[in-house]
Amino acid sequence: MSIGLDFGTTNSAIARACDGEVKLARFALNEARLDTFRSVLYFPSPEGTRELRSMAGPGAIEAYLAASGAGRLLQSMKSYLADAGFQSTSVHGRAMTLPQLLARLLESLREQAERDLGPLGRSLVVGRPVHFAHARGEGDAALAQQRLEGALATAGFDQVTFVQEPVAAAYYYEQRLDHDELVLVGDFGGGTSDFTLTRVGPSRRRGGQEAVIATEGVALAGDALGGRIVEQVVAPALGMNTTYRPALSGATEVPRWPYERLRRWHHLALLKSREVTEMLRSIERTSSDPERIAAFREVIDDDLGFSLYQAVERAKIDLSMGPSARFHFECASLTVEQTILREEFEAWIARELAEIEAAIDRLLQTSGVAPGDVDRVFLTGGTSLVPAVRRIFERRFGPGAIAAGGELVSVASGLAMIAAEREASPIT
Ligand SMILES: Nc1ncnc2c1ncn2[C@@H]1O[C@H](COP(=O)(O)OP(=O)(O)OP(=O)(O)O)[C@@H](O)[C@H]1O
Ligand SMILES: [Mg+2]
Repeated sequence: MSIGLDFGTTNSAIARACDGEVKLARFALNEARLDTFRSVLYFPSPEGTRELRSMAGPGAIEAYLAASGAGRLLQSMKSYLADAGFQSTSVHGRAMTLPQLLARLLESLREQAERDLGPLGRSLVVGRPVHFAHARGEGDAALAQQRLEGALATAGFDQVTFVQEPVAAAYYYEQRLDHDELVLVGDFGGGTSDFTLTRVGPSRRRGGQEAVIATEGVALAGDALGGRIVEQVVAPALGMNTTYRPALSGATEVPRWPYERLRRWHHLALLKSREVTEMLRSIERTSSDPERIAAFREVIDDDLGFSLYQAVERAKIDLSMGPSARFHFECASLTVEQTILREEFEAWIARELAEIEAAIDRLLQTSGVAPGDVDRVFLTGGTSLVPAVRRIFERRFGPGAIAAGGELVSVASGLAMIAAEREASPIT
């Protein structure tokens, strides 16, 4: 059986290839059937039982919202894979390691996919980014892969082959071709942006051999772009840049590091500790803006990371569709309401855009390919819908060179095709 799994920072998907046809697993959410599975894990508040219950996927978000945000919702877990410093986190008083958390998510993903596709078996082709988020060296990348492999084994997949995600997206793109092309694939997700230069088309399909010329990647994508909105719009409303008067000193700026963490809103749960709450309480007493500091404390104590995420996500999508977005976030003691112009947003994310450009430069340079040699640029992944990201490629390769599609399903589909190709002609 040829199964591909795209375990994404934000969305995961599973596909099965059979007789040249690819079928995506559909996940039930009330009456709807979704092609993607939200990569979230939710632990409802315990109800006297000793067992720690968890849920994953689209239903988990529903349950979390229905419980008015009670319990613990974990997002963007893939971003922790290569972070050797992240060993475990306390969930309702129980220490859970990252592989344990991931295994729960993957078990649930498997079970829900099997309701649609039937038994999935033991073997799997799984995607991985070219560079994992937070990996500082090859050791961290190996750790990431090992943690994922361990969690997959717990979920019953003990024969796993890893393939770089943009390579899988190239396979998906290739399906529409009746001629050969040199394609540059850009896959912009939640945590990472990944690239490959690959020859695709009938010649490759006939030969079945590796046609990847080079791959590149940067460990930033949609979450990092959203983080800039938090930094620019939310952090000031929560007291960034305000002052307080510590004992025996004059006016001092509030420490910056909690706001830096806030920018990576999916790490917000890590800010929740007695030390941080006490620090904010003590700042609040002599603060120039006590209401803002109190609101920051509320955001952390009440675990409002998901509300913040939703507000940022909405604004990002609106900014992709139109010239401005109305940002809206509220908690008990604060409402943040601000119009964001697309130009403003593009200025805020300038550093991220520059890093993406630099990665494309490296890709072309290491492969010795000139922009004019690239027949087509295929853009996929949710963050490829950001106009400023798309413009990078239009400027370099011309608007006519851009093709797009399968934003949330291209990688899973391509992985299943790769699985099928390997089964047809196993490479020893
Ligand atoms: N219309 C849009 N405009 C801007 N961003 C969008 C849009 N739609 C989705 N996104 C962003 O795309 C990201 C999710 O894309 P995708 O599902 O491709 O990522 P992923 O595969 O989960 O992550 P990764 O590949 O990095 O592990 C999120 O950051 C989301 O906010
Ligand atoms: Mg992805």
